[in-house]
Amino acid sequence: MPSHKGGTDAAALPRHVAIIMDGNGRWAGLRGLPRVEGHRAGVRSVRAVVECARELGIPYLTLYAFSVENWGRPEAEVETLMSLLREFLIRELPELVRHRIRLNVIGETWKLPAAVREVLQRILAATESHAEMTLTLGLSYAGRNEIVRAVRKLASEAASGNIQPEKITEEEIALRLDTAGMPDPDLVIRTSGELRISNFLLWQAAYAEFVFTDVLWPDYGKAEFLHALEVYSRRHRRFGLTTEQAEPPSNGG
Ligand code: FPP
Repeated sequence: MPSHKGGTDAAALPRHVAIIMDGNGRWAGLRGLPRVEGHRAGVRSVRAVVECARELGIPYLTLYAFSVENWGRPEAEVETLMSLLREFLIRELPELVRHRIRLNVIGETWKLPAAVREVLQRILAATESHAEMTLTLGLSYAGRNEIVRAVRKLASEAASGNIQPEKITEEEIALRLDTAGMPDPDLVIRTSGELRISNFLLWQAAYAEFVFTDVLWPDYGKAEFLHALEVYSRRHRRFGLTTEQAEPPSNGG
């Protein structure tokens, strides 16, 4: 339910919000700036959304920072994204510690440059014990790639007799995804007017609510995030059931 203040009702808050941050390049183009300036401005939005999620008590926030497909961008852009990421991690570590936010990563992180891997490892270890909120970054991440890797693990376990094929369930698959142990996203947000999932959390977003906005990622901030949460709180999630099954009538009407 939306609250009267135009804010969000704690009971209707998603446990896990995942965001496809899109539109940095267009934001820069509109200003006659190089694309990398859009990414630089996008880092400010990352900070604003992380802060807001933490203040509200949302336990899981996942950001699609770099896709497997993004490796195909011009070398200079990839290099800038990697150095922005490294700078962000170094600069934000004290904030992550102060707010007890755990950093987590999904994707083929072994493909990242050594300088990024080294910082990541340090921050993953430094924030490991934080339980209040998990900030997950998708880095060299793609949903199909993640599913292929999980299938390979299962196939090799089956080949060595450690799992019977008929014992392979949705839970067993989920346990071998990069997101093992995390709840599925309740809400997926995509900015910049694109209406696609773009290989993001394909398995996990099966029952997610989607909120799309035309706002370009560098212009996205607390107000836009609160609005998405408000929209989410008004959705009726049925998980394939009828309305009556999913929401039995309450006593108060
Ligand atoms: C999409 O915009 C955005 C990205 C590919 C990267 C997102 C990266 C950041 C916000 C900065 C670094 C990340 C962190 C977590 C500090 P686009 O370039 O596809 O925009 P366009 O569609 O307008 O070209």
